[in-house]
Amino acid sequence: MTDYILAIDQGTTSSRAILYTMDMTVLGSAQEEFKQHFPKNGWVEHNPEDIWQTVLRTCRSVLAQHNVPASSVRSIGITNQRETTVVWDRNTGEPVYNAIVWQDRRSARTCQELKKAELEPLFQEKTGLLLDPYFSGTKVQWILDNVQGVRARAERGELIFGTVDTFLLWRLTKGAVHATDASNASRTLMFNIHTQRWDEQLLAHLMIPESLLPEVKDSSDDFGVCDAEWFGADIPIGAMIGDQQSALVGQACFEPGMLKSTYGTGCFAVVNTGEKAIISQHRLLTTVGYRLKGKTTYALEGSIFMAGAIIQWLRDGIGIIEKASDTEALAKAIGHDQTEIMVPAFTGLGAPYWDPDARAAIFGMTRDTGVAHMVAAAIRSIAFQTEDLLQAMVQDGIAVTSLRVDGGMVQNRWFLQVLADLTGVPTVTSHTKESTALGAAMLAAMHIGHFEDLHDLDKVWRVSEKYTPSLRNTERTAHYRRWREAVTKVQSTS
Ligand code: G3P
Repeated sequence: MTDYILAIDQGTTSSRAILYTMDMTVLGSAQEEFKQHFPKNGWVEHNPEDIWQTVLRTCRSVLAQHNVPASSVRSIGITNQRETTVVWDRNTGEPVYNAIVWQDRRSARTCQELKKAELEPLFQEKTGLLLDPYFSGTKVQWILDNVQGVRARAERGELIFGTVDTFLLWRLTKGAVHATDASNASRTLMFNIHTQRWDEQLLAHLMIPESLLPEVKDSSDDFGVCDAEWFGADIPIGAMIGDQQSALVGQACFEPGMLKSTYGTGCFAVVNTGEKAIISQHRLLTTVGYRLKGKTTYALEGSIFMAGAIIQWLRDGIGIIEKASDTEALAKAIGHDQTEIMVPAFTGLGAPYWDPDARAAIFGMTRDTGVAHMVAAAIRSIAFQTEDLLQAMVQDGIAVTSLRVDGGMVQNRWFLQVLADLTGVPTVTSHTKESTALGAAMLAAMHIGHFEDLHDLDKVWRVSEKYTPSLRNTERTAHYRRWREAVTKVQSTS
């Protein structure tokens, strides 16, 4: 009988299940989107039952499509949208409120108050994060303080908290295991990344009882058993890891200085910093890359809000293109001498600016500016934002030697060449489109002893395409200077 690994990739807009053979080849996958809820301006919620049901359905569907019985699945690896927060009853399993999604800004005021109390340096030193509503801590606090009766129930020890990995694990094990992994814990604002423990002092500032919190395990570990009720046979769960960190593993970025950048709706660039947790002086996030056999590998992360979302805006917002795939042919005609610069601060600017009040603009238009110029300026802005992150990393002492890229936008080859040109860093794609799921699958396979160590995982990864920078340094610097000038013009003064 052939053996398989099942990877669950629970993302912000859809749930996916990917079945791997033991040599990490994709046998098949299933995907289901689910509803996004926007109850108020700046609020984003998911129904936890949608998350759960889409995961169950996609797993069942991929197993059925390929006639794979659950008894042939040796291990499950879970990777997930990070920071999204669920609180539920430890006896009934009922969530007390919808999942508050990482994009949700409702706890901005709480963050402001903590900043006013000059607590940001303490939080940054211990967690590697900044005081921003992005992270779970202030979302948990909001649920405790705003959903009737919840704080009292939490204090009586009746409730538990989890990010999406933890919630799925708890459901899959029928309430037997309440755990997370260090990479997910490191996004909560409650986890001390140096001691690898929940931090009492931070919990006190956030007013969150420790009894809510899951046990923190390695990213490849014994996470219990997925109950036979769900897929027809008991299946061990051998890995859990946040999705951006999972892509770091899936892109085999195991040495300090190796970076992966994922271009989906937004862009998340994560660079391995090895055993050192570098606290950024340039507003990048310090995070746990992965933890294996008790040993933590740290990473620095920069997130930008608009990448593929700019292309969506060109298509759905102003309707100047029909499909995302048209952008390559259009932009191709426009050289690096284009005068238009777009700063896509539609929802503010992420790292390294963290300016929620900045707004988008296009500069340098002439009578000649047309659709192709707009498209090229949009795509170039994604490369310039990547360069912002790389420069911040360099200033924090990390020399990035190559960019391993993935996500929907890497289908656009013109973008990849521009990325290499404007960053001056060779850019490579890998043999698989599924870097995120691959990371979780590799760690799940590692748990059952199929891979010994990272060296074995390294052998799974292969280069597909390589893009070499073609601009002279002086030209590149001149383009980047113009970008920075344009950013200055849209930044808020506050
Ligand atoms: O930090 C948020 C990130 O994990 C979301 O990733 O791929 O679900 O949009 P994705």
